[in-house]
Amino acid sequence: MGLFLDSAKIEEVRKAVELGFVSGVTTNPTIMAKVKDAPKGVIESICRLSPGPVFYQVTAKTTEEREREGREFSDICREKVVLKIPATTENFALMAKLSRDIPCAATAVYSGAQTLVACEAGARFVIPYVNRATRLLGDGCKLVAEMAKVVELSGTSVEILAASIKSAEEATQAVLAGAHHLTLPLDILLSLGNHPLSDAAIEEFGRAGQ
Ligand code: G3P
Repeated sequence: MGLFLDSAKIEEVRKAVELGFVSGVTTNPTIMAKVKDAPKGVIESICRLSPGPVFYQVTAKTTEEREREGREFSDICREKVVLKIPATTENFALMAKLSRDIPCAATAVYSGAQTLVACEAGARFVIPYVNRATRLLGDGCKLVAEMAKVVELSGTSVEILAASIKSAEEATQAVLAGAHHLTLPLDILLSLGNHPLSDAAIEEFGRAGQ
C-alpha cells in the first residue's frame, strides 16, 4: 500500500515528502502543463526529492518517438522513473517492449480487458481514474474491483494505483474495492488524516487537560 502525490509543483512535492508517509509522485501532461519549467527538469527535481517512484507520462506523437521519450526520461533516474503509458493496443505493444527494461504503468484504464492486456504487456501498475469513471461509467469503484479480480486471475503482481480521487471517502472506497495504492492532489492527501470528530475529541482532551 502506498500514498502518492499527484502533482508536478515542486513546493507541493516538498510538502508531501516532508509528511514522511508519501511513497512517491505521479504526474501527467495536464499536471505538467501547470508548471512553467521543461518536463525533464521537473522530473529531475522531483526525483531528487521523492523517496520512491516518480511517474512520467509519455506524450510524443508516434510510437517510435514515445519509445525514445520514455527511454530518455528513464535515464534521468533509472531507480525512480516509472513510465505512464496511456491504454491503447498500440501503446500496449510499446509497453511490451519498454517493460523489459523500464517499469511501466498503464494509465487511463477503463476496463477489465485493458487490465488483462496490461498484465500481459508487462505493466508494473495499472491506473484507473476513479472519479472520472464514476462520472462517465457510473461506478469507478466497481471498475477498480473488476480490475483487481482480473489482476488476481492473471497471476501477475501488477498493482492498482487509483487516480482521480476527489475525497477521503472516495479514497477509502477505492482501497476497499482493491486498489493497492492511491495518488492524490495535495489537498486530498492532507485531508485523509483529519476528521471533525477527531478535532472535537482533541479539543475535549485539551479542555480536560487545562
Ligand atoms: O493522474 C490522473 C489524474 O490526475 C486524473 O484526475 O481529476 O483529472 O480526473 P482528474
